[in-house]
Amino acid sequence: MKKGQNLLPIGVFDSGMGGISVLGELVKMMPNEKYIYMADSANAPYGTKTCDCVRSLSVNAVGMLFARGIKALVVACNTATSVAINDIRGKFNIPVIGMEPALKPAVENGKTGDIVVMATPLTLKEEKFKALFSRFNTEASIIRLPCPGLVELIESETESEIRNYLQELFSHVRITKVSSIVLGCTHYCFIKEDIAQVVGPGIRIVDGNAGTVRHLMNILQARHSLNSRPEQQNKVDVEFLTTGDISKIIPLSQRFLERALRDSFIDPL
Ligand code: DGL
Repeated sequence: MKKGQNLLPIGVFDSGMGGISVLGELVKMMPNEKYIYMADSANAPYGTKTCDCVRSLSVNAVGMLFARGIKALVVACNTATSVAINDIRGKFNIPVIGMEPALKPAVENGKTGDIVVMATPLTLKEEKFKALFSRFNTEASIIRLPCPGLVELIESETESEIRNYLQELFSHVRITKVSSIVLGCTHYCFIKEDIAQVVGPGIRIVDGNAGTVRHLMNILQARHSLNSRPEQQNKVDVEFLTTGDISKIIPLSQRFLERALRDSFIDPL
């Protein structure tokens, strides 16, 4: 590790506001760190675009974060991870952590029943998800539930439209057979309560945020790269960047961070 490297911020990237659910978890679990968050809002959503397009958008957005000087990167987007994580790792010489639908904890839940994976159409189409599906489909029956348009509704903060969307979505699922729902898109953490209310009690809703943060923490610890500055202690130090309209996206990002820090995103059971 280079001298002073541990004082650099951690970069966090998503197409929009979803990655702020991961950022909230980062701030809670590593409050001594500084963070720079990049929302590629000019190009969101990613999940209904082509693989090549998302790959080039992701590398470009990460390049802007890297140019600011970061010691590690969290790709807080399942869709970008699916298609671009290898390109990002090949291009930027820092630890890069990605996201993937948390099927393992859902399978290890011990409850029998179907596991529903909510994600963007692109995530569910990609090889990375196919490999994950084959790995766990022998242990439980896995149902893919693509949710085109849901990211946009979450960012527009329209409670009633989100509810209608979820009601229609789950009307095609045999809910009595379901044991868990895996949130395979970081945006969906912000509507965990709405999902719980639509599907009813007894279904576990799982996300991969805490696991991702623990993984990054272990890597930084092993590299002696954690920020231990006493003056940083417990001060939320986040800078927001965006490719979108700054006058709208920065206040929106701040609102989503407040929600992420307030809500614990824990299992509502
Ligand atoms: N938060 C992104 C994810 O985890 C959303 C992708 C999109 O922009 O459609 O997949």
